[in-house]
Amino acid sequence: MNEHRNSQRLIVAGGRKLQGEIAVQGAKNSVLPLLAATVLCKGTAVLHNCPKLTDADAAFRILDCLGCKCEREKSVVTVNGEAMCNNQVPDGVIQEMRSSIVFLGAILGRCGNCRWSTPGGCELGARPIDYHLEAFRQMGVEVENDAGFMNCTAPKGIQGARISLPFPSVGATENIMLAAVTANGSTEIHNAAREPEIVDLANFLRKCGAKISGEGSSTIAIEGVKELYGAEHTVIPDRIVTATYMCCAAITRGELLLTKTKQDDLSPILPVFERIGCSVYTYSDDKIYINARKPLSSPKKIVTHVHPGFPTDAQALLMALTTVLPGTTIFEENIFECRYKHAGELGRLGAKINVKERVAVVEGVKRLSGAAVKSTDLRGGAALVVAGLAAEGVTKIGNIHHIDRGYESIEDALHSVGANIKRS
Ligand code: EPZ
Repeated sequence: MNEHRNSQRLIVAGGRKLQGEIAVQGAKNSVLPLLAATVLCKGTAVLHNCPKLTDADAAFRILDCLGCKCEREKSVVTVNGEAMCNNQVPDGVIQEMRSSIVFLGAILGRCGNCRWSTPGGCELGARPIDYHLEAFRQMGVEVENDAGFMNCTAPKGIQGARISLPFPSVGATENIMLAAVTANGSTEIHNAAREPEIVDLANFLRKCGAKISGEGSSTIAIEGVKELYGAEHTVIPDRIVTATYMCCAAITRGELLLTKTKQDDLSPILPVFERIGCSVYTYSDDKIYINARKPLSSPKKIVTHVHPGFPTDAQALLMALTTVLPGTTIFEENIFECRYKHAGELGRLGAKINVKERVAVVEGVKRLSGAAVKSTDLRGGAALVVAGLAAEGVTKIGNIHHIDRGYESIEDALHSVGANIKRS
């Protein structure tokens, strides 16, 4: 199966204006910490709007290894965390997905000890976890590195602590929250991440009985409780997938109605589309209409920041769009050390992009030409789909397993609004 999946390609014939309606999937970066949180719960948790993604499947495999019973019925996932009977997960299962590290906080919160495979880097760079481990040490966890594993023990149990993060890391904030909700005493997280996925996790944990406040701000306060009980929760919409489909509408000069989305989470992104010249209408909080029939031009500069700044995950997607917008666009990537790998592949389609360290300069060209390209990572792969929709001729995109990590049947969604795209 793996070989077959890795040999699959997306074949895109460019030139079609997109028109129609797409219902946006649940957020990958929310469902992963939510699934980890079910480990802490007695009884059963029910998560609605769970997207069908290979990263979600990897999380289910981790839960299965722990002994938690997982069931999926369409987009509804049920997890019985109480059934957990093991705190060891095979190295190979952990290594399938870098963000499996978020299970460590939950397992420590549940059992107080764990031997966990040290996550490697990924396409975006080293991806260190020093902020996570330093916070756990402050919470009474002893971490010993042992041949690629971390032996984590808490002789006196997990203790609440006052933690100041050197950087508002999303994963570290989530891991600390998961370890703190059933810790002895209170925890304060200073310089916490403010992303919508943090707020979603806090909302779910509170439904399960956690005492937590301040989520969405830079200071989160948590008072440890004895037990959590599984609750019912709906995963927030995926703001990066929303931005992806908006780029698809814009690059094809089409119009799309995006439903089941959440405009509040898009506040850093929507103004960029308006600066480009798109007409963007938001109504009833969960619907966004984008029309790109007017002449478009470069947004001039896009600088990525932590939330509520422009999200790093949308950088590749907007870069694909700007390759065919008149004018020069300067990108500044401030979150990851090498998040421009897609620039080379976009160049194979005729894009003019000059990368120097954290800055990429895009000179808009009149047209792109279809070619064979390879996904370099999740969002870089999606960027090639965006570009392929506008490129003259056929674009063949390989390594699409990267895309399947975060997009639920991207070809079906785009085909339903007029794109000539298929998986082969
Ligand atoms: C989450 O990754 C997301 N992944 C990423 O989305 C997203 O790009 C990132 O947050 C930033 O928003 C998930 O939620 C599963 P960080 P995470 O810790 O938690 C450095 C996608 O495309 N750092 O906020 O790993 C780190 O190297 C993915 O959906 C340390 O130095 O991101 C990076 O430069 C890609 N030490 C910066 O902080 C640490 O201990 C931000 O990382 C932790 C992080």
